[in-house]
Amino acid sequence: MSTEPRSTLTNDSLFERARRVIPGGVNSPVRAFRAVGGTPRFIQRAEGAYMIDAEGRRYIDYIGSWGPMILGHGHPAVVEAVQKAVLEGFSFGAPTEREIELAEEILKLVPTMDQVRLVSSGTEACMSALRLARGATGRPKIIKFEGCYHGHADSLLVKAGSGLATFGHPTSAGVPPEVVQHTLVLEYNHIGQIEEAFARDGSQIACVVIEPIAGNMNFVRASVPFMKRVRELCDQHGALLVFDEVMTGFRVGLGSAQGIYAKALPGFAPDISVFGKVIGGGMPLAAFGARRAVMEQLAPLGPVYQAGTLSGNPVATACGLATLKEIQKPGFFEDLAARTRTLLDGLLGAARDNGVPMVGDCEGGMFGFFFTKAGEGLPQNYPTVMATDKERFNTFFHGLLDRGVYLAPALYEAGFVSAAHTARDIDDTVAAARIVLR
Ligand SMILES: Cc1ncc(COP(=O)(O)O)c(C=O)c1O
Repeated sequence: MSTEPRSTLTNDSLFERARRVIPGGVNSPVRAFRAVGGTPRFIQRAEGAYMIDAEGRRYIDYIGSWGPMILGHGHPAVVEAVQKAVLEGFSFGAPTEREIELAEEILKLVPTMDQVRLVSSGTEACMSALRLARGATGRPKIIKFEGCYHGHADSLLVKAGSGLATFGHPTSAGVPPEVVQHTLVLEYNHIGQIEEAFARDGSQIACVVIEPIAGNMNFVRASVPFMKRVRELCDQHGALLVFDEVMTGFRVGLGSAQGIYAKALPGFAPDISVFGKVIGGGMPLAAFGARRAVMEQLAPLGPVYQAGTLSGNPVATACGLATLKEIQKPGFFEDLAARTRTLLDGLLGAARDNGVPMVGDCEGGMFGFFFTKAGEGLPQNYPTVMATDKERFNTFFHGLLDRGVYLAPALYEAGFVSAAHTARDIDDTVAAARIVLR
C-alpha cells in the first residue's frame, strides 16, 4: 500500500531531526513508539480513513488522532466550515455566536447538563471540572481509578498507595507528594474498595472521576453494578460524580457513555461531564458541563476561577459544530457500530483460527482487544490489562504496520473506526491480521 513519495524524506531522518529540537522527537509521549519500539511514522497528510507518511506509505488509520476523527480525515462539510471560519478570523478573545451554537448543540445531545464551558484540551477540561467539583462541594478529596487518564494536571498524575488508607504517589517528577495528598486512587470495578473509601473519608470527598468506558487501559467498561454503586455512594455522601467522556463522548453513541448507563440504570446521570476529541472534530476543543447550580459556581458568576485565551476558538468551534451535525444524520452510529463490530469480530476470528487467545470489546466507533491466556475473559481493571501479552501485541502491531494498518502503538490504548472506513478497509485489515497471526 503506497502512494508516490513527496520527497526523499524518511521517517528515520525526520525522527533524528525531531529529536534534536523536540524532547524525544514528539510533542506527546505515546507518539514516540516507546512501548512498541521502532520509528514513529511522520505523517504528511491524511484523507478519509488513511494517513500517508513522509515516505509516501499509506496506512488504514485506527487511531483517528486518538479519537476526534470520527468522520475520517478531511470530511468535505467540515473542511468547508473550517475554511469559511478561517476567513472570518482566527481568534477574537471575545464571545461569538458560534460558541452559543456549539454549546446548544452539545446540550441538546447531553440532557444531564444545563450549561457547558468550552476550553481547548481534555486536560484543561478535566482539571477545571475537578476544581469546580471541589469549589461546589467545599471539599478537598477526589477519587480516581487506576488506569483511567484524565489529562496531565498535577493532582491527577498519581498511582495507588500501598494500601487504601494511604494516599497515592506522584507518577511524574515535578509533582510534590503534597499535591496528590487529596487524590485517592482505587481499583476500577472494585465495589468493596470504593465503599471502604467512602466509609472512611465520605465527608471529605468532593467527587469521583471516572472514564465510564476506560479507553486509556485499552477498552474496559465499568460494570453496571459498579457504576450503580458509585452513583449511590456519591448521593449518600454528597459527592459529585464526574464522567470523563473526553474519549467516549459522541464516540460510543450519540448519547455518549452516559446514555448507555442510563439505559441500564433508568434515571442515571453524572453530575459533571467532560468532553473533548469528537466535539472539536480534530481541532483543540473540549468542554465540561453540569446542571446550572453547579456551573454557576464558575467565574464570572461564582468563586471558582477558570479562563482561557483561546477558549471557544472560532475555527475550532466551526470544526466541532460541523462534526456534530454529521454524526446526527440518521443511521450514522448504527453504521459505525456495525463496521466496528465487523472489524472486531474479524480480528477475533483471525486469532481464533490461528489458535491465538484474544478477547475484545467495542461500542459505537471505539474498540479494544487483548492477547490473553487461553480461557481468560475481558480484563476488568488495570492490573489485568497490564498482565496481557505485551510481546504478542507489539509483534502484532508491527506486523500490521508493515502491511499498511496503523493501530495505536501501545497495548493500553483503544482503537477507533471512522465513518470513512469502508467494508474493503475492514476486510484488508482482517486479511493482514490473519497473515500476522499465522
Ligand atoms: C479520557 C480522557 N480524558 C482526558 C484526556 C486529556 O485530553 P487532552 O489530551 O486533550 O488533554 C484524554 C486524552 O486522551 C482522555 O482520553
